[in-house]
Amino acid sequence: MHSNRSAFSRILLFFTTIAITTIVLYRNSERWLRSVLLYLSTADWARQIATSFPPAWQVASRFIAGETSQDAIRVSQAVNQMGLSATLNYLGESVDTAEDAAAAREAIIQLMQQIHQYGVNATVSVKPTQLGIHIGRDVVHENLQQLLTAAEKYDTRIRIDMEDSHVTDTTLDLYRRLRDDDQFGHRVGIVLQAYLYRTEADVKALIQEGAWVRFCKGAYKEPHELAFPEKADTDANFLKLSKQMLSEEARGRGMYPCFATHDEALIRAINQYVRQEQISKDAFEFQMLYGVRRDLQQELSAEGYRVRVYIPFGTAWYPYFMRRLAERPANLWFFLSNLVK
Ligand code: FDA
Repeated sequence: MHSNRSAFSRILLFFTTIAITTIVLYRNSERWLRSVLLYLSTADWARQIATSFPPAWQVASRFIAGETSQDAIRVSQAVNQMGLSATLNYLGESVDTAEDAAAAREAIIQLMQQIHQYGVNATVSVKPTQLGIHIGRDVVHENLQQLLTAAEKYDTRIRIDMEDSHVTDTTLDLYRRLRDDDQFGHRVGIVLQAYLYRTEADVKALIQEGAWVRFCKGAYKEPHELAFPEKADTDANFLKLSKQMLSEEARGRGMYPCFATHDEALIRAINQYVRQEQISKDAFEFQMLYGVRRDLQQELSAEGYRVRVYIPFGTAWYPYFMRRLAERPANLWFFLSNLVK
């Protein structure tokens, strides 16, 4: 049985290698591969195959703290000891029943209680589709409100992750409603994505509102009508809008931008701008994913920059992991070669 599976894995590796080699010989191969991986990240059949295959988890665990909140707390403590802060994410998305959304909410409240109990320097990051955005606005709003109440109780903050463009408007509306209406509104932050054309206008508005914004490139499959098809354009937009979020006006209005990227050239460009404009290193922070560019995380921290690590945990790791593969095709090779070990 074992040798059958091993033989099957080797055949799979063989054909995949040929396929990838063929693909890389063609122009735009990376973009094509990225599209396939992003498609697979949402395909239920692919999730079932991957998650029933134990070696897949071994590879995925490079990016994930573990299956339990205790794992996430343990990893956060280690990260804190290195001088970095954390944001913890209980993995899960696209739930379609109110019961599942409530279960996620309760798990996140328990996580906040543990953050408090263990004195960890961490916030939490949550996904609207995990908390019921597809079920109804009232459902997700009610869940987020309960999370904010818990954040106040346990003295932490909540960041609403940004998912694909179907939910951008609703997510921004929810964020504003919570921030303005809820008595604990100062404990909620939002995310914007540099690949969307609309983001320039969103940045402008959020500067006026003095928001707490994480800025990333964007991890989902988006149509060309909505997002820059060329990576270089996204990168240029990232730098342009980062500078706007660091402007005197933005800082004056209380904006605190968090630049979520591993792109060293971009990070160095932001740092150069900060030096040139004599902006305090406390006026912003960098954020990176657990398991990605640890060397850069520590280097920046040693240089006196604030760095926060995004630490996911839980059993629903499949879509998160596939997006990480899509971001860097070299990870795919690492994944496939580990499957046959
Ligand atoms: P880019 O993809 O250009 O990568 C630059 C370099 O970083 C690569 O050359 C490589 O060295 C390294 N790298 C990047 N990704 C890697 C990976 N997976 N494995 C190994 N090396 C890698 N997206 C979103 O749509 N909504 C959100 O809420 C968030 N939240 C979020 C939080 C945090 C803390 C981070 C860091 C990122 C996100 N993202 C996100 C994901 C983000 O949109 C983007 O997909 C990834 O960060 C990859 O883009 P980079 O900016 O790193 O640049």
